[in-house]
Amino acid sequence: MNEHHNPKSMPKSMSERADELEEEKMHEMERIITKSTLGYLMDGRVEMDAGATTMARHPGKYFLMGEDPRLPKMPEKPTLVDYFRHRFASTAHLLQSATHALKGGQPEKVVLACLLHDIAVVSFIRCDHGYWGAQMIEPYVDEEVAWAIKMHQALRFFPDDSVGYGYPDLYKKFFGPDYKPEPYIVEEYKRARQHKWYMTSRLICVNDIYSFDPNAKVNIDDFVDIIGRNFKQPKEGLGFDNSPSAHMWRTIMWPTRFL
Ligand SMILES: [Fe+2]
Ligand SMILES: [Fe+2]
Repeated sequence: MNEHHNPKSMPKSMSERADELEEEKMHEMERIITKSTLGYLMDGRVEMDAGATTMARHPGKYFLMGEDPRLPKMPEKPTLVDYFRHRFASTAHLLQSATHALKGGQPEKVVLACLLHDIAVVSFIRCDHGYWGAQMIEPYVDEEVAWAIKMHQALRFFPDDSVGYGYPDLYKKFFGPDYKPEPYIVEEYKRARQHKWYMTSRLICVNDIYSFDPNAKVNIDDFVDIIGRNFKQPKEGLGFDNSPSAHMWRTIMWPTRFL
């Protein structure tokens, strides 16, 4: 159609080529699979898949309004463990942190907080992951667990000698030696410091294993009982229970649903 806009003599950019491949793949699908605006923003593009133009490129097809055939199938009534198995891109860090807490004799509340502290990073979004993760689980866990996960976002950056927690070496490597947390994080830290549950959140940091052993055998099966006792699994399935965060779980289940 618009070939004259892209003459053969002009090499295509990486992102143009990637778009084409995506487009080719999509033609093989029964439904039109789109990307949310956030996905484009993450590629550095302020763009979106507009309904009419996208449809015109895929004559005779409808938009995807349910599960994405490219992703692992989820059960009809998914549990937290199903999300661990089918949607969390990496669980070693979470399992090792929780194992560390368990071996250290921490109460189940703390073990659960360690097990779930980074679920937002592995399933959803990196920026402000403590806040997202806390909201995802808030309706299903003890208030203290959700609070601790929310606040680990800020506490990680600040040492506490009383429990032998120093600023992580890995952060110096990751963010550079001059990195300073933003003012909103500093303020959050000050609030957390005064809170009665401060130490619960601090214990997430203490058990946050940054240099985990790739050979250590950790499995979600070892935590099924702790989850059973401390996570109120909705009988309708996580995502279908009308809780304030059910939509977040559905989005993780169906990330490419058109609307
Ligand atoms: Fe974290
Ligand atoms: Fe972590």
